[in-house]
Amino acid sequence: MTKRYGVIGYPVKHSQSPEIHNRWFRHFKIDASYELLVVPPDNLSKFMIGFKETHVGASVTIPHKEAVGRYLDVIDPVAAVVRAVNTLYCDEKTGKWHGTNTDWLGALQALSFGMGLTMDLAARDFSFLRGKQVLLLGAGGAARAMAYAARFAAAELVVLNRTKAKAEALAKGLGGGRAGGLSEFANFRPDIVINATSVGLANPHATPLPPEAWSHFMRDRSTPVYVMDMVFNPLHTKMLKEAGAAGCQTITGDLMLSLQAREAFCIWTGLNPPEELVLPKNQPHDA
Ligand code: ATR
Repeated sequence: MTKRYGVIGYPVKHSQSPEIHNRWFRHFKIDASYELLVVPPDNLSKFMIGFKETHVGASVTIPHKEAVGRYLDVIDPVAAVVRAVNTLYCDEKTGKWHGTNTDWLGALQALSFGMGLTMDLAARDFSFLRGKQVLLLGAGGAARAMAYAARFAAAELVVLNRTKAKAEALAKGLGGGRAGGLSEFANFRPDIVINATSVGLANPHATPLPPEAWSHFMRDRSTPVYVMDMVFNPLHTKMLKEAGAAGCQTITGDLMLSLQAREAFCIWTGLNPPEELVLPKNQPHDA
């Protein structure tokens, strides 16, 4: 019988996840399908009852990453720490539904590839980030996964957010790290900047930092600042364009999207899609 998967979100109609996962299912000749699961927030509890009968796994996106935990049997430790579930799977042996999070791992892998480092995905070696200053923009659900990633890799974490108190709570909650408002960017000289705000998503003309931030970050450096945007629609966000114009190296959000999806696919099937079917074509490592 065809195994059914999907992405639970709202709105979700522009999601690239069905294309990504169905391509991998076809590659491995797995009898499975991955579909869009359009679930308005007030319908999640009803939806989950039927879903568990008909499906064996799913991705979870905005706005359900936190709420979906209520309908699961087990929340895996990372998802509990970041209070965000992006992947559901049903344990075949126990029949229990698990929620986990692959965003943090996708982000670390995306940074590694985006920085042109060769990396064995299975090795989970993120030592290249040790002691590097990671400036994280945002303090919502997406940012929590990024903060976890930075801490996991022993990077020096700085969280800046429009609402400063939330940045402070996030930095403190993950065992330390400096925090501030977005306007305090000039106090920092990051090696890596990650946008985990939703700025640029709703309004493509908006950016979380003013254009002068990027030249400030680049001043007197012998190595580039790497800038990754979790927003991938549009791919080349205004923030990435401004950062690139100031000499920063940019990493588009589609790389993280593919790599977090790859981790989910491994959980569901135990199989690793080949690199050429995982990495988007426009990244530096493809050169
Ligand atoms: P997600 O789960 O995608 O992270 P979220 O929890 O709603 O979504 O968080 C959205 C993030 O984008 C927050 O950090 C938010 O800042 P506040 O905590 O101050 O709300 C940030 N954000 C959203 N709109 C913004 C804007 N116009 N300018 C700056 N930051 C913004």
